Amino acid sequence: MGVALHPQVPRRWFRHTIPLAVLALLLYLCARSLRSLSGYGPGALSCITEGSPPLQVRQQSGSLEASEREEPQCLDPQGMLGRMMGPFRASLNSKGDVELAQYLAGWRELIKFLSPFGSIFAFATSEAFTKVTALEARVQGPDAAQYKSLAAMVAWERRAGLLEQPGIAPRDPARSSGSRTTLLLHRALRWSQLCLHRVATGALGGPDAGEQCNDAYGTVLGPHHPWLVRQAVRLAFLSFPGRGRLLELACPGTREAEARAALARAAGTLEEVYNRTQGLLAERGLLQLA
Ligand SMILES: *[C@@H]1O[C@H](CO)[C@@H](O)[C@H](O)[C@H]1NC(C)=O
Repeated sequence: MGVALHPQVPRRWFRHTIPLAVLALLLYLCARSLRSLSGYGPGALSCITEGSPPLQVRQQSGSLEASEREEPQCLDPQGMLGRMMGPFRASLNSKGDVELAQYLAGWRELIKFLSPFGSIFAFATSEAFTKVTALEARVQGPDAAQYKSLAAMVAWERRAGLLEQPGIAPRDPARSSGSRTTLLLHRALRWSQLCLHRVATGALGGPDAGEQCNDAYGTVLGPHHPWLVRQAVRLAFLSFPGRGRLLELACPGTREAEARAALARAAGTLEEVYNRTQGLLAERGLLQLA
């Protein structure tokens, strides 16, 4: 006598499997992002959404500081946003090119800044940290002389036959060309910039930060990601911190209006870098490389 499965069984099985599979994928990607970001020491980020500490309203010291200073502290060269804006600005050289060492230094600060937002960042940017490290290895490697700037890198990789065929992913992503890695980082930068800009300028009572950053994800990165990743990212955005928490992370101890203005300036710096990189990549026909 054969084993006759009840026709309901597979369907019921699927009903339970799909949510489980999504959960497993989330945990897997979360663990991966933790590993790739583990350079930041314990507690830098957590896969478990911790209860966000309430937005600390330090009105007294905040307004005192604000009236004494022209700018909030987070824009100082040592401040949370200033540390990131400095190298990114310095990457824009006077020849209209982008200096790679400075660009990557800016990226490192951007990742540090975004890490407390949770694993969603690593998701959405498909492990920006790994890409930054891969590109740094080239900038500091045996061919360092060819990797001073974006234009120099592309010219050299093209001459040396290192550029991939457009649209064809390299077999081993770790060996992808510097130009391709830059393009992927460039898209992730656009997402970060749009997300931060929208958080900084979003209307009270309008869409919350998670929704705004999810929209930016859908515009910039979603089209380049497989379906399953897009679904996982969409779910992960549900636990994205609120605007108040984001502003507090960006400009600790600053009043909301000032924190918003500072974050908008930081997003503006990212946009300048994005615009220049976009122009350089477009002129060289590289926007389809990945
Ligand atoms: C970036 O380019 C866009 C489109 O060309 C332009 O509207 C925008 O003002 C530029 N942003 C910056 C910060 O230069």
